[in-house]
Amino acid sequence: MFKIQTLNNISVAGLERLPRDRYEIASEIAHPDAILVRSAKMHDLVIPETVQAIGRAGAGTNNVPVAAMTKRGVAVFNAPGANANAVKELVIAGMLMSARNIAQAWNFARGLSGDDAAINQAVESGKKHFAGFELPGRTLGVIGLGAIGVKVANTARALGMRVIGYDPTITVQRAWQLESDVQQAISIDDLLSRSDFVTFHVPLNDETRNMINAERIRTLPKGAVLLNFAREGIIDDVAVVAALDQGHLYAYCCDFPSNLLKDHPRVVTLPHLGASTREAEDNCAIMVADQIRDYLEDGNVANS
Ligand code: MLT
Repeated sequence: MFKIQTLNNISVAGLERLPRDRYEIASEIAHPDAILVRSAKMHDLVIPETVQAIGRAGAGTNNVPVAAMTKRGVAVFNAPGANANAVKELVIAGMLMSARNIAQAWNFARGLSGDDAAINQAVESGKKHFAGFELPGRTLGVIGLGAIGVKVANTARALGMRVIGYDPTITVQRAWQLESDVQQAISIDDLLSRSDFVTFHVPLNDETRNMINAERIRTLPKGAVLLNFAREGIIDDVAVVAALDQGHLYAYCCDFPSNLLKDHPRVVTLPHLGASTREAEDNCAIMVADQIRDYLEDGNVANS
């Protein structure tokens, strides 16, 4: 009998891939053979010596001490691409929210009160104040052309946008062979200088930490919008606030909570919702449960 410890709620669809006649699954379990985790931070946890594999039900592995586990011979699996559609949809929503001031206008509308005349007057002022802009003809820069970046690029093109891509690790041609066609930027600065919106789909590591700083923000055209649905730390948020206050950036939308950003009128922060759809949660859990099962039962390693 294999013992599996689950940290966080792992979707039932994933757990069903581990037949109960061969797997005991619980959030508290002695001597686990493997751990399934979603977002729980494992760096400060004592990981039992019996653990042979860890499955992270998501794309990133920042919450898992990968280097230490690899040193110990523990296989770490993740689920690249399994939540790509969910993240893509939220990025597109973030782009529309930013361009049309949806969050700010919604807040405004909730605060309306008084008689018809007062409300009509407020509506007229809201129409002026929250007037936005449309997407067709605007340029979206996509940094990171993995599963999510390519999906975002394709949907943005369907919305009539121009798309420029840059990936520090793979060529744009290679990424585009997967689905469609994208214009290649020669560098991050080249991409920034030509983009009305920039979206990031790279992991947080030593190469990407503070990839976008004050100097790079100045490279963007005035009125640009930044979308960070990847990880906090890729963009210097202090520099973002300064650029918003100076009117150089139009808006910032990010998928992580932030005390620094949450009250800024030109910022929308979300509580890391990108992968939070029923479909994505099932896909991720199924992918890692299958990998854990194959590894424990047959020693097969896929995507470790
Ligand atoms: C990811 O890395 O794919 C996300 O962080 C997944 C999640 O929200 O759990």
